[in-house]
Amino acid sequence: ASSMHRDELLFSYKGILYPTAICNPESFKALESFEARSDDVVLVGYPKSGTNWLSQILTDLIAISQKKTPGTESSGNAEGARDFPFLEMGNAEKYERISKLPSPRFIATHLRPDTLPKSFFKNKVKILLVIRNPKDVATSFYHFCNGLPVLPSYETWDDFFTDFMTKKMTWGCYFEFLSEWNKYADQENIMTVTYEEVKENPALAVKNIATFFGIPLTEEELQLVVERSSFQSMKKNSEKTHGTVGNVLFRKGFVGDWKNHFTEEQNKKMDKAFEERIAGTKLGKKLKY
Ligand code: A3P
Repeated sequence: ASSMHRDELLFSYKGILYPTAICNPESFKALESFEARSDDVVLVGYPKSGTNWLSQILTDLIAISQKKTPGTESSGNAEGARDFPFLEMGNAEKYERISKLPSPRFIATHLRPDTLPKSFFKNKVKILLVIRNPKDVATSFYHFCNGLPVLPSYETWDDFFTDFMTKKMTWGCYFEFLSEWNKYADQENIMTVTYEEVKENPALAVKNIATFFGIPLTEEELQLVVERSSFQSMKKNSEKTHGTVGNVLFRKGFVGDWKNHFTEEQNKKMDKAFEERIAGTKLGKKLKY
């Protein structure tokens, strides 16, 4: 939420907008030649889909796989990119640091497959894709834009909604993100989870995710990961884990807050867009809509 004009806050790379304060074109260039490893643990999600939540689950699982205590020692690229946990954020030097980290590295990103370095696909890296109902994503994104200085703010929810339905969002359009990733949804190295299913049955979700990445878990370890990743406990720790952003990031953490924002007309518009663009796809069928 800055009073600066949106043109000063954002830049465009390959037709998609990113916030200038945390991303830059040089990094995107350097990123193109980034070498992913087949044992990287990768999380992909459109902004506000629960990416920080699943990041914690995955870093805890990595810690457990290395016989470390979750939350006490950094794992994966957290070490190499502490300030900017997402792959596309920060300066180009960061990739040099990440390239020296021991396996398994943890890598999170909001990028679409056409912007993700080719090596992720070439090396058949395992990717967890988290998707969330667009109505709740929009609601969450609205509050995030107004709470975070690096993103353009919106005077009204209606203005935000109009932009959300077009290409004016940072990291691009939700619908395009989903249809681009849908092209890969069938591959066996890609697992999709919905925000809603993790919320409904976190133990089952964590179990399935661990199995996908080949990480054995005792019942006790499973419970620990579930407990540590509850909204309440992540919110409580958020200042330690995410600094001042924590407050904005861990907002409500439930399903259906869109009902407090959408007008009848906006609801119909979203339903129509969903029907036309997503509903028939594999990811659309998986989405809790
Ligand atoms: P709300 O704004 O609806 O509360 P991201 O991490 O991709 O930016 O997504 C942020 C959204 O995930 C926010 O949604 C946030 O509250 C929610 N979230 C974060 N941690 C969570 C958790 N442990 N359980 C449930 N939701 C969580």
